[in-house]
Amino acid sequence: MTGAEPSRTPDHRAAAGLQILPVTGLGEFGPGSDLAAEIVAAAPWIVDDDVLVVTSKVFSKTEGRMVAAPTDPEERDAFRRRLIDDETVRVVARRNRTLITANRNGLVQAAAGVDGSNVRTDQIALLPLDPDASAARLRARLADEFGLRVAVIVTDTMGRAWRTGQTDVAIGASGIAVSHGYDGVVDPYGNTLQVTDIAVADELAAAADLVKGKLDGVPVAVVRGMTPVDDGTGARDLVRDLDDDMFRLGVEEAVALGRRQALLTRRSIRRFAEREVAEESMRAAFAEALTAPAPHHTHPIRFLWIRDDDRRRRLLDAMAEAWRADLTADRKTPESTAKRIRRGQILYDAPELVIPVVTGDGMHEYPDARRNACEKTMFTVAGGAAVAGLLVALSVRDIGSCWVGSTIFAAEVVRRELDLPSHWQPLGAVAIGHPAEEAGLREPADVDSMVVEL
Ligand SMILES: Cc1cc2nc3c(=O)[nH]c(=O)nc-3n(C[C@H](O)[C@H](O)[C@H](O)COP(=O)(O)O)c2cc1C
Repeated sequence: MTGAEPSRTPDHRAAAGLQILPVTGLGEFGPGSDLAAEIVAAAPWIVDDDVLVVTSKVFSKTEGRMVAAPTDPEERDAFRRRLIDDETVRVVARRNRTLITANRNGLVQAAAGVDGSNVRTDQIALLPLDPDASAARLRARLADEFGLRVAVIVTDTMGRAWRTGQTDVAIGASGIAVSHGYDGVVDPYGNTLQVTDIAVADELAAAADLVKGKLDGVPVAVVRGMTPVDDGTGARDLVRDLDDDMFRLGVEEAVALGRRQALLTRRSIRRFAEREVAEESMRAAFAEALTAPAPHHTHPIRFLWIRDDDRRRRLLDAMAEAWRADLTADRKTPESTAKRIRRGQILYDAPELVIPVVTGDGMHEYPDARRNACEKTMFTVAGGAAVAGLLVALSVRDIGSCWVGSTIFAAEVVRRELDLPSHWQPLGAVAIGHPAEEAGLREPADVDSMVVEL
């Protein structure tokens, strides 16, 4: 084989084959048990370089992690659920009565490893607090008291995402490289292996379960033929970092979280990246925004998507002209006028420009001016809802926007330049583009100061 050396151990294979031997004749364990002595007594044939694979429940029993529980099935169930809550650091997914959680050691499994099987009916087993430490302690005692240089793997049974059925995995390990990385190794065909990292400790845990089984009281097996190398890793190293975990939440939980956070993705973006905005994203955002509520079951909102650059420039120039006239009438200095007009530059520069308008189609007419004004307000408000929806529909697609009010002040100019019906009312302009900088989610607003409870 050519290429770089494997990143961790020379080779994890037991090239001459493996033996997996059950340790039979072990009695019941309890808080006072001398685990090392009992294993050696039951299996005096254990030799250096063997890998002891020990069911975690043994440590639950010797390390005081068995909890007295009610025997009544209903009470036992409720009690078990409380224990699961206590052991849970993070809920990954919940489906009916199934709860997938991460515990303090980052182990993701059903019910935080809280187990009512294979224990007395008045007890429930919790996982060892630190299974790597449990493995290290047993290994040290076997070395110190019995002169045995072995590796220890602590196992638990887990389901896997994507696959039915359960297998045993390593939740604790000592004295063995828990994984074997082939990063950079070139295979016999000349391909460089990049991400192959064999979880050897998990493979050993699963293999040992084939001789341990679940029901017949064989909690320890010995795997012979591996020649374990102690590289200081523990089962903790097999827990994927949350940042690298593409599946850190169940699908439904992830969808629900995304929905809850949708509004927090929006903020006014005033600097855009050069990148184009995909046409289908624009269309999808329009389609969603146009579902906004409106009075009398009407659809009174139109989004004018200004796609022609010349038309955009002409419109903005005409609006700037009108604004300049207003500012001059206000007796603003030329500098102050120029400064204000420059603020409108975003509408020239944004990759996309949309002008929302209320057509007013479907407005009721009343005999008096007061109610007609109210009706107009009602439709204007509906326009605001649609625009807000558009901004959010864009931001959830990582597209930024800034809603600029200027067309409201230059409605006549807009109607003239875009040849719009006289009753169409512009509701500002929306500058749209991918943000120049990633902004992340914003904080929710302060409810106490802005929600008035009456
Ligand atoms: C009707 C309306 C008109 C606005 N006009 C402008 C504008 O002319 N220029 C601008 O930079 N931002 C404008 N904004 C954006 C506000 O300044 C912005 O929403 C506010 O500062 C809060 O920031 P956020 O949108 O990031 O939450 C406008 C917003 C609304 C709703």
